[in-house]
Amino acid sequence: ETLQTALYEPMKKHTTMLVGGPAQFWVQPSTHQGFANAVNFCRQRGVPVRVVGRGSNLLVREGGIRGVVIHPSRGVFGDVVVEGNRVTAGAGVRFKKVASVAQKHGLTGFEWMEGIPGNVGGGLRMNAGAMGTETFDQVVDVTFLDEDGEIRTRTRSEIESFYRNVPELRRNFALCATFEGKPADADVINGKMQESSHKRRTTQPLAASAGCIFKNPELMPAGMLVDTLGFKNESVGKARVSLEHGNFIVNDGKATADEVLGLIEKIRKKAREEKAVELETEVQI
Ligand code: EPU
Repeated sequence: ETLQTALYEPMKKHTTMLVGGPAQFWVQPSTHQGFANAVNFCRQRGVPVRVVGRGSNLLVREGGIRGVVIHPSRGVFGDVVVEGNRVTAGAGVRFKKVASVAQKHGLTGFEWMEGIPGNVGGGLRMNAGAMGTETFDQVVDVTFLDEDGEIRTRTRSEIESFYRNVPELRRNFALCATFEGKPADADVINGKMQESSHKRRTTQPLAASAGCIFKNPELMPAGMLVDTLGFKNESVGKARVSLEHGNFIVNDGKATADEVLGLIEKIRKKAREEKAVELETEVQI
């Protein structure tokens, strides 16, 4: 395994929000064993290690990330294999790609993935969802690196998953997963794919963002709450609440992480004071 590495890799190049300082040490493995070796090396020496995929649900501070950041995108991490009704995808494969591969193979159930900007690894970790479906609704099994440095595979029933939260994958790192669909006619699949991309194009911004900022609280969807509080188009520096959807903060390219964080805090304060709602961020900070 030849690891590709870099020092002080700018994270604004690796987040869809286009903000964030450098990762001290950036590692791109191409095999599961290479990934495991890199993580185990860090753990044994007490070096902080984290994994960043597409960075579509991530806000990196201006100070960057200390220690090692593993970016699984090369080799096996980019593989997609279809067998019968099942699709196995590496952690570095985009959900959009899984949706289009399933479409080509006449499999339905994957259309919602068209609306997810991130990669399989991150989507598993946060149980990403859209159009009423969540990642774990469709998982057959997940292969991951566990806390003891072993590579294991567990079936869906062995992994607890909640709304935007999979506790086990906060401690362990997903390497690949198998999803299950059903055969269907091309028109049915095409129709659902179009519905998914239409919903995204008509209700969500095109500008750089990290997807939804907050988890939906019980009271009402976070986007509606931010809207009701009058925050649409409100800005801190170059970070601005999207006019299209209240739960998105957009960056025209020049915003800083501090500006985004400032805007998040302003919204949380008002939600607390005026609606007694404690908004929880969905984006990883
Ligand atoms: N709404 C407003 N104002 C706004 C935005 C929304 O009144 O500015 C209202 C809408 O009219 C609708 C309700 O709020 O009645 C819910 O809005 P939407 O249908 O857009 O869904 P959402 O709950 O805001 C969820 C996911 C999205 C996913 C969409 C589409 C969360 C936090 N968000 O959004 O996921 O794309 O459904 O399925 O669960 C993400 O996780 O990053 C994300 C974008």
